[in-house]
This record gives sequence, C-alpha cells and structure tokens, in this order.
Amino acid sequence: MGTATRVIGLSGYALFGFLFFLLVSSHLSSVEAASNQPIAFSHQIHAGQYKMDCQYCHVDARRSPAAGIPSVARCWGCHKITAADKPEVKKIHEYWNKKEPIPWVRIYKLPGYVYFTHKRHVRADVKCQTCHGQVETMTVVSASTGRNLTNDLINLAGMSPAAPPLTMGWCVDCHRSENDKRGTKAPLDCAACHH
Ligand code: HEC
Ligand code: HEC
Ligand code: HEC
Ligand code: HEC
Ligand code: HEC
Repeated sequence: MGTATRVIGLSGYALFGFLFFLLVSSHLSSVEAASNQPIAFSHQIHAGQYKMDCQYCHVDARRSPAAGIPSVARCWGCHKITAADKPEVKKIHEYWNKKEPIPWVRIYKLPGYVYFTHKRHVRADVKCQTCHGQVETMTVVSASTGRNLTNDLINLAGMSPAAPPLTMGWCVDCHRSENDKRGTKAPLDCAACHH
C-alpha cells in the first residue's frame, strides 16, 4: 500500500512537472511567434478596439480557398496618416516605398495533402472564431496545429489551446454534427478532403 501510494505520488510529481513544462513551452512558443512577424500587427487593436470587420482585410474568404492577407496598400490607406510616427508603423512606410510585400509568417497550415476552402465554410455561416478562436482579443495570432504529442496532451489535460488544432477528427466531427443539426452537406468521404 505504502509503496504504491509513493509510486503514484512520484508519477504524480512527474506528470505535474511535465505539464508545467508544456505550459512553459507553449508560452515560449507564443513569444517566439511574436518576434517572428516582421511588424507587430495587433488584431486586438484593429478587430477588437476599432471593430474592423475580419473580411475588410481578409477579403478572399468568401470567394476563394484562401482567406488572403491584406496588401501593403490596404495598411497604407490608413497608416499614411494614422499613427505615422510610431516605429512599427514606419516599417509599413518602408515596405510601401520599396514596393515590397510584407513577409508575414504563416500561422495556420494544413499538410499539403489536405484540401480546404474558406468559401464554402464562410457561405455556410461558420464563424471565423469557430476555427481560429477569439482573434479580436489576440495581440499575436498563434496556433498549434496538427496531430502531435503536445497537442494531444494539452487536450487531455483539459488545457484547451488558443484555437482548435485542425486535426482530421476535428474537421469530420463538425461535418457530422452540422449535417445532423442543420442539414448541411459537409463531405465525409475521403476524396473530398484528400485529392
Ligand atoms: C486591419 C486588417 C486586419 C483585420 C481587420 C483582421 N486581420 Fe487577420 N490578419 C491581418 C494580418 C496583417 C495578418 C498577418 C499577421 C498576423 O498573423 O498577425 C493576419 C493574420 C490572421 C490570421 C492568421 C493567418 C495565418 O497565417 O495563418 C488569422 C486566422 C486571422 N488573421 C483572422 C482574422 C479574424 C478572425 C479577424 C476578425 C476578428 C481578422 N483576422 C481581422 C490583418 C487583419
Ligand atoms: C471551418 C474552419 C475555418 C473557418 C470558418 C475559417 N477558417 Fe481560416 N483557416 C482554416 C484552416 C483549416 C486554415 C489553413 C488552410 C490551409 O493550410 O490550407 C485557415 C487559414 C486561414 C488564413 C491563412 C491562410 C489564408 O487562407 O490566407 C487566414 C488569414 C484565415 N484562415 C482567416 C480566416 C477568416 C478571416 C475567417 C472568417 C471570415 C476564417 N479564416 C474562417 C479554417 C477556417
Ligand atoms: C481602417 C484603418 C486601418 C487599417 C486598414 C490598418 N490600420 Fe493599423 N491601426 C489603425 C488604428 C486606428 C490604430 C491605432 C492607432 C493609435 O493607437 O494611435 C492602428 C494601429 C496600428 C499599429 C500600432 C501602432 C502602435 O505602436 O501603437 C500597427 C503596428 C499597425 N496599426 C499596423 C497595421 C498594418 C500592418 C496594417 C495592414 C495589414 C494596418 N495596420 C491596417 C488603423 C488601421
Ligand atoms: C465548425 C464546423 C466545421 C469545421 C471545423 C470544418 N468544416 Fe468543412 N464544412 C462545414 C460546413 C457547414 C460545410 C458546408 C456544407 C454545405 O455547404 O452544405 C463544409 C464543407 C466542407 C467542404 C466542401 C467544400 C466544397 O467546396 O465542396 C470541404 C472540402 C471541407 N468542408 C473541408 C474541411 C476541412 C479539411 C476541415 C478541417 C481542416 C473542415 N472542413 C472543418 C463545417 C465545418
Ligand atoms: C473533412 C475533411 C477530411 C475527411 C473527410 C477525411 N480527412 Fe483525412 N485528414 C484531414 C486532415 C485535416 C488531416 C491532417 C490533420 C491530421 O493529421 O489530423 C488528415 C490526415 C489524414 C491522414 C494522415 C494522418 C496521419 O496520422 O498522419 C490519413 C492517412 C487520412 N487523413 C486518411 C483519410 C481517410 C482514409 C479518409 C476517409 C475515411 C479521410 N482521411 C477523410 C481531413 C479529412
């Protein structure tokens, strides 16, 4: 009995230690994400505080597979004047003058063998937030996607990550439940997502 409890106690500590490690490392990776972007763009300011519509910037979402990232011209339209003296905004001016796109770092990415399209989801009224989390509250958008041990453990431990991990199970579960609830025709056959 005594040894058993001690063993459980020890593995408890080990588990706790491991979860702590996960917590710390997931924080570290969001800090990394912050410094990865070429300009410190904040959704919290634009979509939260100033309530700009998601599709004002991500204009392709309703008409094509990709949602699209806004051009320098779109930023310039406001920032020619707005906050023009701030250091991060001056960087926009540099890209504009050089006529170069801003090299934003991609966050959400499915493996190449999966087909996904925004158009059909947006038209079926699935909210951006259902898949990407409360982006309007994020200073930095970050995500941990795909199947890996860390994601599985974070889910098991009930510490939900910032946004869904974009696994196959997640796609298929929603398709099934939307079809049941709303009579949509979200595909369940392999070829619809893998072709
Ligand atoms: C003023 C323009 C603007 C608005 C408004 C805006 N975004 Fe963005 N969004 C960007 C820019 C620029 C990036 C690239 C930099 C970054 O990742 O933060 C981005 C990145 C993203 C990404 C990550 C893309 C990737 O690389 O995978 C998601 C998801 C996203 N936005 C969703 C939203 C949602 C949801 C809203 C509305 C709540 C929204 N955005 C409103 C400009 C905007
Ligand atoms: C059904 C889930 C779902 C919904 C709804 C959704 N997205 Fe996405 N989004 C994804 C997935 C999955 C990816 C990665 C796609 C890939 O790698 O092919 C992605 C990628 C992105 C990207 C980066 C690549 C790109 O497509 O340009 C942006 C920006 C983005 N989403 C913004 C939005 C915005 C804004 C909305 C709402 C108008 C939205 N998303 C709605 C699942 C969704
Ligand atoms: C519709 C107008 C509008 C558009 C379009 C827009 N912004 Fe902004 N942006 C604002 C406003 C308003 C603020 C807040 C200014 C302030 O607090 O003084 C802001 C703040 C910022 C800041 C923070 C400045 C600071 O240090 O406090 C950055 C960086 C920024 N925007 C980058 C961008 C980028 C990059 C784009 C294009 C992807 C963009 N903005 C598009 C209106 C806009
Ligand atoms: C929150 C719910 C939800 C999630 C999550 C979701 N989908 Fe869907 N999906 C839908 C709905 C609803 C439809 C549209 C059905 C309709 O129009 O009748 C759809 C349609 C589709 C279609 C058909 C598009 C076309 O043009 O034929 C594909 C492919 C698809 N989804 C792939 C995916 C993939 C891949 C993922 C995961 C990365 C995913 N979906 C995640 C709800 C979802
Ligand atoms: C609604 C979209 C969707 C449907 C339907 C779907 N898949 Fe997937 N599948 C995905 C996504 C997204 C991934 C990548 C993320 C992941 O690995 O979970 C994936 C990954 C996979 C992988 C790689 C998994 C791994 O462990 O690396 C295989 C194999 C696969 N799918 C087979 C199938 C088969 C077989 C079917 C039909 C029974 C099917 N898929 C139906 C979306 C889908």
